[in-house]
Amino acid sequence: MRIDKLLSELGLCTRREAAKIGKLGGITVDGVPVKDVSKHIDPEKQTVVLQGRTVVYQKFTYVMLNKPTGYVSATDDKSLPYVTELLPEELRRRELFPVGRLDRDTVGLMILTNNGPLAHSLLSPKHHVKKEYLFTSAEPLDKDAERDFEQGITLADGYECKSAELYLDESRAQGRIVLTEGKYHQIKRMIASRDNRVTSLERISCGEIRLDPSLDRGEWRYLTEEEIKILEAQG
Ligand code: URA
Repeated sequence: MRIDKLLSELGLCTRREAAKIGKLGGITVDGVPVKDVSKHIDPEKQTVVLQGRTVVYQKFTYVMLNKPTGYVSATDDKSLPYVTELLPEELRRRELFPVGRLDRDTVGLMILTNNGPLAHSLLSPKHHVKKEYLFTSAEPLDKDAERDFEQGITLADGYECKSAELYLDESRAQGRIVLTEGKYHQIKRMIASRDNRVTSLERISCGEIRLDPSLDRGEWRYLTEEEIKILEAQG
């Protein structure tokens, strides 16, 4: 892999910056300064140092974001704020994209990666990873809601939902829903089918990966090695 490509893919600098830094002697490979950054190296076997910092090579990047309200689940949008705007420039250069969508007004756990094949397989309809949400509704839900959600309710357009777990608190206007599928506006449409309306929605887990409670809305962190293993096992 070219040195400039490696550095830009890791988000450490642009290719143009790499060329300048290389010329000034700021890049070494296995301890030897390399002026020509078009040179090919093996990042898994060779050690690159950029301006005194050893470059840690990772083929793919994985990030957990606590999505705030008001952001669309996209990498670009002409008029609305989008989730990758919440990442620093260095990460944005790595071209991460969200694994799955949350509505603009839904908050909580969002995973972003540049591992296209893994994201594709995680998003496949054959995938039945449990996704857990906290919600509030405008009115208390009716007494049969838990049973009906478990049996699989039918939405207004005739779609028959898979069995879902519903746990309500005493008010019956807030609780937790666990889904194994992710249709467009699914929870909002499920609640709407009970002549009710979702007033807030937060995703708190995807499979074994839980939203890190130390992240405030809009904050992100890298997935841990263990979380990456879980994600790969789910894919
Ligand atoms: N269900 C919804 O209705 N919206 C989401 O963002 C996620 C699940």
